[in-house]
Amino acid sequence: MTTFWSTWICVLTIGSLIGLTWLLVGTRKGETKGSVDQTMGHSFDGIEEYDNPLPQWWFMLFAGTLVFAVGYLILYPGLGNWKGILPGYENGWTGVHEWEKEMAKADAKFGPIFAKFAAMPVEEVAKDPQALKMGGRLFASNCSVCHGSDAKGAYGFPNLADKDWRWGGSAETIKTTIMGGRIAMMPAWGEVLGEAGVKNVAAYVRHDLAGLPLPADSSADLQAGQQAFSTTCVACHGANGQGTEAMGAPNLTHPAGFIYGTSLTQLEQTIRHGRQGHMPAQNELLGNDKVQLLAAYVYSLSHGAGADPLLAEDKKP
Ligand code: HEC
Ligand code: HEC
Repeated sequence: MTTFWSTWICVLTIGSLIGLTWLLVGTRKGETKGSVDQTMGHSFDGIEEYDNPLPQWWFMLFAGTLVFAVGYLILYPGLGNWKGILPGYENGWTGVHEWEKEMAKADAKFGPIFAKFAAMPVEEVAKDPQALKMGGRLFASNCSVCHGSDAKGAYGFPNLADKDWRWGGSAETIKTTIMGGRIAMMPAWGEVLGEAGVKNVAAYVRHDLAGLPLPADSSADLQAGQQAFSTTCVACHGANGQGTEAMGAPNLTHPAGFIYGTSLTQLEQTIRHGRQGHMPAQNELLGNDKVQLLAAYVYSLSHGAGADPLLAEDKKP
């Protein structure tokens, strides 16, 4: 704030305080104590005004607010560029500063615990009940919007509690996924294969790879579907449809791991238009130490002895 505006604010504020004090004291002076029913001496159509003193409680309340205002303005920033005499407001008072202070306090408290877990391998962290509890909390506030509070996923969002992994399920790979995020690229094949081609390859994926039944009246040519798959899809999904973790191309022989549905309509939609699943990177948002706990938590969901302290805690009466 420039000196001009700072001075302007001080003049206005202090001026108002002085003015109000003067008003309060000034109006009190003329009061005649004790004699109640005295009137002010004027009359409007027969209506007169009594000259009674201000009620004591009202006067004290007003005086109290003035004292409070003066005390507050001395202790805290409020008067222009004045920082207040209490420590900790050297940069003025803003919501951001207060939040940063809270965060610094939390870091001082939890920093050593985070550091301890960050120095351990993720698999080891995944066995520590305290780490899992912290990881579970982080998951609830940062991940459950997409992956569900039970981490079992939803349409378009993979289940993290099962053994099907699109990008890999080792502890380190899970951590890499969370840190850096992932962008899956399933191209659109509608133009390349044509409508009949899409239907054939969808039927092939559903029947031959995923092992799910086709409708009795299906007219799809599975042979042609297999042909198309072996020329168009194997590069990413592998010769047997087992997937390629390096590019997040899912295993097409495990229907439970499909996130875009297994019905023929859904499969055709996926193949016709492609899919681009996006897992947002957390390294800048949460940082290594928190991601370490998250990775351990996610890893524990499919590797622990069904250990999920957060869910167990929530179920307590
Ligand atoms: C360039 C690599 C690439 C090629 C080629 C490719 N896919 Fe994919 N496919 C992917 C990726 C990556 C995903 C994951 C998309 C996502 O998670 O958003 C995927 C997802 C899918 C899914 C959805 C699975 C689910 O989770 O619901 C199906 C079905 C599928 N592909 C079938 C095919 C078929 C059939 C072909 C050949 C016509 C094909 N893909 C060709 C990379 C590829
Ligand atoms: C905005 C939604 C969103 C949020 C928030 C989100 N994710 Fe994801 N996540 C996804 C999507 C979508 C995928 C699948 C990407 C793909 O298609 O391959 C994914 C994939 C993953 C995978 C890889 C799964 C596999 O099969 O390989 C892991 C692990 C994961 N997320 C963990 C997390 C964690 C931990 C958090 C919390 C810090 C989180 N995610 C927050 C959307 C989200």
